[in-house]
Amino acid sequence: MSQEKANLVSTSDEVSRLYDRFAAQCAASMFGDSMSLHLGYRDDPDSEVSFSEAADRLTDLMTEKLKIGSGSHVLDVGCGVGGPGVRIARLTGARVTGISVSQEQIAVANSLAESAGLAERVVFQQANAMEMLFPAQSFDAAIALESLPHMPDRGQVLTQIGRALRPGGRLVLTDLFERAPIPAAKQPAVDRLLNNFMSTLVRAEDYPPLLRHAGLWFEEILDISEQTLPTSYVWLQSELETIMFGDEVTGRFDGIDVIIPEVGYLMVVAKRPKR
Ligand SMILES: C[S@@+](CC[C@H](N)C(=O)[O-])C[C@H]1O[C@@H](n2cnc3c(N)ncnc32)[C@H](O)[C@@H]1O
Repeated sequence: MSQEKANLVSTSDEVSRLYDRFAAQCAASMFGDSMSLHLGYRDDPDSEVSFSEAADRLTDLMTEKLKIGSGSHVLDVGCGVGGPGVRIARLTGARVTGISVSQEQIAVANSLAESAGLAERVVFQQANAMEMLFPAQSFDAAIALESLPHMPDRGQVLTQIGRALRPGGRLVLTDLFERAPIPAAKQPAVDRLLNNFMSTLVRAEDYPPLLRHAGLWFEEILDISEQTLPTSYVWLQSELETIMFGDEVTGRFDGIDVIIPEVGYLMVVAKRPKR
């Protein structure tokens, strides 16, 4: 990686500062109903379902792939303001422990669990996923909904997750990926998106070896760019900058749709082998 590129890579401190900044606004914004900070999934890109409904749809698709039930304990890696974790607990009966580097998000997420009457089963705590302190084999499943793009080292966080999972436990994650080589003219738009907030882009073919090194078996990889990106990018351009930065104009998301189709969105399913 060139020095110039290395400067673009996020650190956990920068990520937590950015997320702290708009944790409280989430409830009052378009994220409102779902309390989810991830892209929406639309089976039909022209569908008029709200951002919140589309965000929940993605959570539900991922939850189905976890294959969990009421006895399960799920680790939510990069839990945001708690919407997905609370939803998973409500729909499956599972216990959920969520972690985020942002203390402000954790405060909002724990109040959400409390007001949903789920505080006994759903707990959020501040922790860095790169250095998890959970005992080995503590969880039956793990979900990482759009948090890996922020992690400076995907191999390290996957190893941490692999260690925390019990044999037979599944990990389902979403990530941004380089679908095709990025032409030089589009590189500035990609750099603006990643700038101090996201890590480097992964390639789909990187996942099987990354998972293998983490002691996980790769089960499925789905390119869900068409169902997530076109409509969400419109929303990012028009809404997210204001929610994140208030009146400060950063231009981070300007012209972001030019990076379709080179930058895609994928869902990965992996499993810790039984032996
Ligand atoms: C795009 S948001 C997604 C939040 C949540 N998964 C959701 O879907 O609503 C990314 C999340 O990853 C968290 N995150 C980023 N880097 C992290 C790290 N090193 N350790 C723990 N959480 C991290 C952020 O604080 C934020 O909560």
